[in-house]
Amino acid sequence: MNHPLEQLREDALREIESESDEKSLDAVRVRYLGRNGSISAWGEKMKTLSAAERPVIGKLLNEVRNAVTAAIETRAQHFRSQKESGALAKIDVTLPGIGRSGYSGYSGDARSGASGYSGYSAKEIGSLHPLTQMLERSIQIFRRMGFALADGPDIEDEWHCFDALNTPPEHPARNEQDTFYLPDGRLLRTHTSTVQILTMQAAPPPIRVIAPGAAYRRDEVDATHSPQFHQIEGLYVDKNVSVADLKGTLEFFMRELFGRDTDVQFRPHYFPFTEPSLEIYVKSKALKKGEQWIEVAGSGMVHPAVFEAVNKARGDKAYDPEKWSGYAFGLGMDRLAMILFDIPDIRLFAQNDLRFLRQFA
Ligand code: PHE
Repeated sequence: MNHPLEQLREDALREIESESDEKSLDAVRVRYLGRNGSISAWGEKMKTLSAAERPVIGKLLNEVRNAVTAAIETRAQHFRSQKESGALAKIDVTLPGIGRSGYSGYSGDARSGASGYSGYSAKEIGSLHPLTQMLERSIQIFRRMGFALADGPDIEDEWHCFDALNTPPEHPARNEQDTFYLPDGRLLRTHTSTVQILTMQAAPPPIRVIAPGAAYRRDEVDATHSPQFHQIEGLYVDKNVSVADLKGTLEFFMRELFGRDTDVQFRPHYFPFTEPSLEIYVKSKALKKGEQWIEVAGSGMVHPAVFEAVNKARGDKAYDPEKWSGYAFGLGMDRLAMILFDIPDIRLFAQNDLRFLRQFA
C-alpha cells in the first residue's frame, strides 16, 4: 500500500493539472504548501515518528514537497504565457506601424497620414539642422582637447568688437556700410572675437575656450555671403604658447573633421588683433572640391595691444604680455558645413526648405 504521503502527491498533482486559472491554482498551493497545508502538516508529524522511520519519511516528504512545488510553478508559467500570447493575438502585425510623433500626446490614425501642417507630418521626429550638426561635431573635437565653452551677446558695444581688439576707428570693418549699427551706437557683432575680450575680462590666465555663435556683416547676399553667419572663436592663453601650438591644434581639428589625409596650409595674413596672423586653408581628396585649397579660418598670436586693453579694463596686470602669450582663431562654421556636406549655396541654411533639410536627417 502507498504511504499516505504518496497519495497526497498524487492528489495534489491531479488537482494542479485540472485547475484552469491562476487563482484556483493558488488555492491548491495554499491547501498543500500553505502554513496549514497538508504537506506542511507532515513536517509537524515528523517529530512523532521513531528514529528509524524519520529519515525515510523525511526523504519522502522532501520529494513530495519538491514535486508539488515544481508542478505548481510549471502550471503557473503555462498560465502566464497563455495570457501573453492572448494579448499578442490581438495585434495585427500586418498593419502599418505608428511613426514616432513630433510632439507628445499625438494620437493620430497611423494610416490616415493626417497632419496639422502642410508638408510636415506630425509622425516625423525631425532632425538637427546641418549647421547645428556641424557645430556639435566641432565642439566635441575641441572639448576633447580641453577647451571650455564661452559665450557672449550678439549685440555688442564698439569697444568689445573693435577697440579692445586693436582695431582703430578708421578701420573699414567699422564703416557703416559694413556693419549693422543700432541707434544707441551698439552693433551686431561682426565676429565672435568679442568673446576673447569678455573671457579675459572675466578671468585671469590660463584660458582655453571656444565660443560658438552668430556674427553679422552687411554683405551683399549671394551663394557664399549671408548677413548672418556662424563662427567658432578659439582662445588659448598660457605660458610659452607658440605658433606651433596653434598649428598643431588646428591641424588636428581639420583632420578630425575632414579625414586623416586632409592637408592644412597656413598662409600669412593680417588681422589687427593678432601678430603674426595666419589664414587657414584645407584640401582633401575626400571632399568634392578635390584638389582645391579652401579658406576656412583666420588665426594668429594674440597681439600684445589686446592684452593691454584687457588689463586696462580689468585694472590689473593679469595679462602681462611679457609673461603670457596666446593664440586665437575664428572658424567659419557655414563654410565648414558647406565643404563637409557639399552644400552649394549658403542661403539654403536659412530657407527652411524641407527637401534640403531632410537630406541631413
Ligand atoms: N575674427 C576674425 C574674422 O572674423 C577671425 C580671427 C579670429 C582671426 C581670431 C584671428 C584670430 O575674420
